[in-house]
Amino acid sequence: MTHYRQDIEAIAREAGALVMDYFARRITFEYKGEVDLVTEADRASEKLIVERLRARWPEHGIVAEEGTRSDPGADYRWYVDPLDGTTNFAHGYPVFCISIALVRNATPTSEKDEQLEAGVLYDPTRDEMFAAERGQGATLNGKPIHVSPTKNLAESILGTGFPSHKRHHNPNVHFYHQITLRSHGVRRAGSAALDLANVACGRYDGFWEFNLNPWDTAAGVLLVREAGGRVTRFDGSPFRLDSREVLATNGLIHQELMTNFEEIFAGRGLEELPSPTEYAKTRS
Ligand code: IPD
Ligand code: CA
Ligand code: CA
Repeated sequence: MTHYRQDIEAIAREAGALVMDYFARRITFEYKGEVDLVTEADRASEKLIVERLRARWPEHGIVAEEGTRSDPGADYRWYVDPLDGTTNFAHGYPVFCISIALVRNATPTSEKDEQLEAGVLYDPTRDEMFAAERGQGATLNGKPIHVSPTKNLAESILGTGFPSHKRHHNPNVHFYHQITLRSHGVRRAGSAALDLANVACGRYDGFWEFNLNPWDTAAGVLLVREAGGRVTRFDGSPFRLDSREVLATNGLIHQELMTNFEEIFAGRGLEELPSPTEYAKTRS
């Protein structure tokens, strides 16, 4: 039952404490891209996690966001996001987490698809430990969690995110606008991994994002599945870690959200964005 969970939880907790130490000191950031930030905390957290994983499972491969790439041919591979929500972290906004997941058949073939085996996601600001193992359910601080019972989009609250990389090419603001007007609202909290955990524990009814990386999604996707939810690409086709699009819901609103996405991609039934210049004329 606790084949991986206990050990990964301990590693994530240790990394969380380290990250909180840096957070208390309000350290500075550097740029990886135009608005893509990285801090000393990201690197220190990655170093710690990678050292622990290597010591415990030397035969496994590791892919981590800040550069670790080891044993790409291994059957088992860890995906590590040492700090998801770096922009929040760097600005002192307390919404970030550590995400660690184990995948089997890391290089899938037509016979063997990738399999998410275990995942842990730790939010050190709230001391919340989310964990899941394939076929064993998902937990939050040791207690079983389940996706929400919300049955329709109109009564849903959802999350999404916007990339820092190639942001000028991303059409998500259109989806954000349309879905906001068709639901109770769409949050943009700045940590895709936590967004997925929030779907798993029923705080969100759904989440989507374009262009995420495997270290952003691996743990969170397993959490959603193990908590009874559904994860696909936007058109309902199977989600894979290299899919570059993720739609995760409680299952009950999945079809409706997919239909809405299809309409938005086709440009049908769109609410017009009010023009700021026209609006300005109405201001007194
Ligand atoms: C980012 C966060 C954010 C998402 C971005 C990711 P990082 O990860 O998950 O919510 O919108 O696409 O890159 O850079 O903070 O690890
Ligand atoms: Ca990330
Ligand atoms: Ca990160």
